[in-house]
Amino acid sequence: MKNLNNIAIVFFIFFSISITAQKTEYANLLQNIDARQKTSLNGKWDIIVDPLENGFYNHRLQEYDKGYFKNAKMQSPSDLIEYNFDTSLQLNVPGDWNTQMDKLYYYEGTLWYKKDFNYTPTSNQESFLYFEAVNYEAIVYLNGEKIGKHIGGYTPFQFNVTDKLVEGNNFVVVKVDNKRKKENVPTVNQDWWNYGGITRSVHLISVPKKHISDYSIKFEKGKYNTIKGWVAVANSADGETVNIQIPELKESAKATVTEGKASFSIKAKPKLWSPELPKLYEVIIETSTDKVVDQIGFRTITTDGSKILINGEETFLKGISIHEEAAFKTGRIVSAEECKVLLNWAKELGCNFLRLAHYPHSEAMVKEAEKMGFLIWSEIPVYWTIQFENEDTYANAENQLTEMISRDKNRASVVLWSMANETPESKPRLSFIGSLAKKARQLDDTRLITAALDTQGKGDDGNLIEDPLGEVVDVIGINNYCGWYYGDVNSCSSIKWASAYNKPMIMSEIGGGALYGLHGDKNERWTEEYQDELFKSNIEMMKNIDFMVGLSPWILMDFRSSRRPLRRIQDDFNRKGLISEQGMKKKAFFTLQEYYHDMDEK
Ligand code: GCU
Repeated sequence: MKNLNNIAIVFFIFFSISITAQKTEYANLLQNIDARQKTSLNGKWDIIVDPLENGFYNHRLQEYDKGYFKNAKMQSPSDLIEYNFDTSLQLNVPGDWNTQMDKLYYYEGTLWYKKDFNYTPTSNQESFLYFEAVNYEAIVYLNGEKIGKHIGGYTPFQFNVTDKLVEGNNFVVVKVDNKRKKENVPTVNQDWWNYGGITRSVHLISVPKKHISDYSIKFEKGKYNTIKGWVAVANSADGETVNIQIPELKESAKATVTEGKASFSIKAKPKLWSPELPKLYEVIIETSTDKVVDQIGFRTITTDGSKILINGEETFLKGISIHEEAAFKTGRIVSAEECKVLLNWAKELGCNFLRLAHYPHSEAMVKEAEKMGFLIWSEIPVYWTIQFENEDTYANAENQLTEMISRDKNRASVVLWSMANETPESKPRLSFIGSLAKKARQLDDTRLITAALDTQGKGDDGNLIEDPLGEVVDVIGINNYCGWYYGDVNSCSSIKWASAYNKPMIMSEIGGGALYGLHGDKNERWTEEYQDELFKSNIEMMKNIDFMVGLSPWILMDFRSSRRPLRRIQDDFNRKGLISEQGMKKKAFFTLQEYYHDMDEK
């Protein structure tokens, strides 16, 4: 009997360790910063352009402690200080530097930012410096002291600066480096402009010492009558009570914190969030010291064979791909208003689905899309020839994935997490993306996993989808450029498709370039007529693919890319947009609009 007890104890220890080992680790990010007390650090920042990283290394290329981050001032007329933020140029934050200064248009390297701000301490508060995104690598200093580093150009990060702030004037310095490197994510070649800088907002966030740091609130998987979730409370002892209320449903729950987290479940049958009815509920989360209010939608996303079901109903995803390029002024989008310009065009096109390519877009874009009823494909920039055998590259990709899921896990609009785009088939690539998919499912088992596959060179007479990545994902994305990169623009309609997998397929890219206003014969490349003919021919082809349940053509709007120099046609813009960057709709816009409209009529 004694032996049996010992075996049971060993098993229990092993089991609990393995469960702990699988414990879901979200990024260290305050959830829903819109609901927090925050001071904006947006506006003019002083800058120093530093291609030789002279502000970081001495002449022997050693990091030194007298870098620009010290923001040193002459104490006597004989002092030698060869930099001065006070007399430097300035850039707007948020914003990329490439479109703010002509001489920074092509700049790839280090640029220093500095901002002064006032701080008044409040007792029993914690303060965080929160960056919504910096492309690509950021080293952050507060009052001359390094407080941390972040790698990845499209996800948020924060530093607890409670003990580093001083009463009165403080200064923050950020070393931003957007150099492309083979080991980076994305790697050195990408078909979008490498916009560098503090490209999204910066906040100083104040929360109570004991505060709601994170939470997840959604339907219990597979149920429409049970809302479940957890609330993480920082600096809380066990036993702290958390109240969760959904006033409109007249439902609430009390939960108790154990080891920093309180789990709960609420029996309720909310109106479902859907593209047709993007219903959001006010959810109030309260503890003895903190209160956070969010707007949350409740829906399910599942597959059944080759179908995608939203709330149990077969749904065709009428989509469009979008880069985070601002219309009119161009450059990185920096506001919700600029997001709405693109979202309204997508709505006019008849879309219920957006592929936010090729990196996580801003939280504002995701939240605005949610209010408007768009389903979202959200993606990390594991793009093309990533270094699949480099462990650091994997850790970087996994960190960006974790930050993306951590930030948006409560957004009903997000239904697909995409692991990669057009990565070349190989065993290391399959292992790399397989590990990312496993991590994504560990963090969030309620959404579908996808990836966009490259079909170039799969032959013109038909495409068999047999990429081994099809085993890994729930939904297969296919990028197909019949009529542009291969195949005759008039022959696409006769191409037949088959799949080795009984899984849904989304045609995640089709398209071709056209310069708005250039007209000619439909066989004349770069004319609107050619692009329109390509769409017509591909639409005919897609009507015959019964396992295709979504489409996100490439792309809503022309966007800047260093791969597109053709003078007088591209002029540094990828012209596959259905709309020019000046907001002019091309003929193909109306062809796709008609396709989606006719679909609704059936
Ligand atoms: C690729 C890629 C896009 C690129 C597009 C193009 O499929 O996914 O990032 O912009 O094709 O060549 O225009």
